[in-house]
Amino acid sequence: MGNKYEEARKEIERRISEGVIQPGERLPSVRKLSSELQCSINTVIKAYDQLEKQHMIYSVPKSGYFLVGSHQTINNSQTELIDFSSAGPDRSRMPYRDYQHCMNQAIEWYKEEMFHYSEPLGLDVLRRQLSKQLQDLQVFAPSERVCVVSGSQQALDLLLTLPFPNGKDVICTEQPTHPSFIQSLTSRGLKVRGIEMTNKGIDLEQLERIFHETEVKLFYTVSRFQNPTGYCYTNLEKQKIVELAQKYDVYILEDDYMGDLDMKRKADPMFAYDPSGRVIYTKSFSKVLLPGLRLGVAVLPEVLLDSFAKAKFAADVHTPVVTQGALEIYLQSGMYKAHIQKLRRQYKRKGTLLKQAYQKHLPKEAAFTGGESGFYSTIELPKRMKARRLVNHLKHKNVLVQDATNMYLPAYRKENRIRLSVSQVKDQNIELGIKKISECISELL
Ligand SMILES: Cc1ncc(COP(=O)(O)O)c(C=O)c1O
Repeated sequence: MGNKYEEARKEIERRISEGVIQPGERLPSVRKLSSELQCSINTVIKAYDQLEKQHMIYSVPKSGYFLVGSHQTINNSQTELIDFSSAGPDRSRMPYRDYQHCMNQAIEWYKEEMFHYSEPLGLDVLRRQLSKQLQDLQVFAPSERVCVVSGSQQALDLLLTLPFPNGKDVICTEQPTHPSFIQSLTSRGLKVRGIEMTNKGIDLEQLERIFHETEVKLFYTVSRFQNPTGYCYTNLEKQKIVELAQKYDVYILEDDYMGDLDMKRKADPMFAYDPSGRVIYTKSFSKVLLPGLRLGVAVLPEVLLDSFAKAKFAADVHTPVVTQGALEIYLQSGMYKAHIQKLRRQYKRKGTLLKQAYQKHLPKEAAFTGGESGFYSTIELPKRMKARRLVNHLKHKNVLVQDATNMYLPAYRKENRIRLSVSQVKDQNIELGIKKISECISELL
């Protein structure tokens, strides 16, 4: 099956690159191709699935597979794929080679550490380095409270399972929110309360009512560049949320996954308004470095350190030592700071282009959130328009966007939102992409 599958995939790629199949054209049916290539139907389906994952082709239910764009058309912006759906960082900007260098050095420098199990909460040298770096973000905490995690998702997930000093058990979260967090909540079957997030943020009076009426253990909030809305709280809003948490004995789980990218130097994290431990702070290296490294950091209150270390040990013993060591070298050398400066400018530019394009093209029946520097923004479609339908229509126009339905808990679900990420879209394609989306919304109206 392995070889046959490779042969089938290569044959389809050959036909595409030689122009036998043109962009927008239907590919041979699974049955036809399996008989032509003398392989099983499953082999062809697997090859098509793989090419779909690479966004070379797309499928239309009951119609078959279609070619998105071929290699010959890659420079033609009218037919080039514009991918607003990928949540990964811009690969052309990622410091892959620099990090490779740090990994090589780390294998040498941290050799001894590799021959035994290490500390669940991370290498001391890295924790100290992170404690220093976090000060740039107004997060002041001793290294003993700074924990290295295998991606910030691990900290979010583990914290949901731990008993908290307030003895409460309901998780409150913005709606919509980061889909991996939704997965954690639903797969662990926890009690949840949602609060609607709009282009004006959340209703603080409603938040107070929730804190007052419900046994809220923690409020999960993405305080800057929220996923998916792109919303950034003002300092005043952050301060008020922290005050409410103090008043009602609620913990805040502040996911500052892209805090590094904030150009507003006066913007504080919620952590800065209560560094004593009421606010648990997490940050990710996935969007600013490489998601495959699975590196994140959590700043915990002292009272949770012991139980968190046990949960982390049970989950994966510790985060791999070489990646930790490489991060320490990368941070300490100053490469990280230089890299972040460049990224900030890049995302700021993309954000400005996106916002201008929204203002110019989006029909009045639709509304957008976000569009600051950062990854994400959403479009709210007219009430009766299902995001799923728009997503499929846009595929035919070589534009990929994400249906935001799975970014809601079932009880708060809205099916008329799409999420856009500008990270992988070339600057010159942002306006064209938004124009196509706007036209498509108008057509469907
Ligand atoms: C809100 C939010 N938090 C965290 C992350 C990253 O998580 P991790 O560090 O586990 O890759 C993402 C990634 O998309 C995100 O959107």
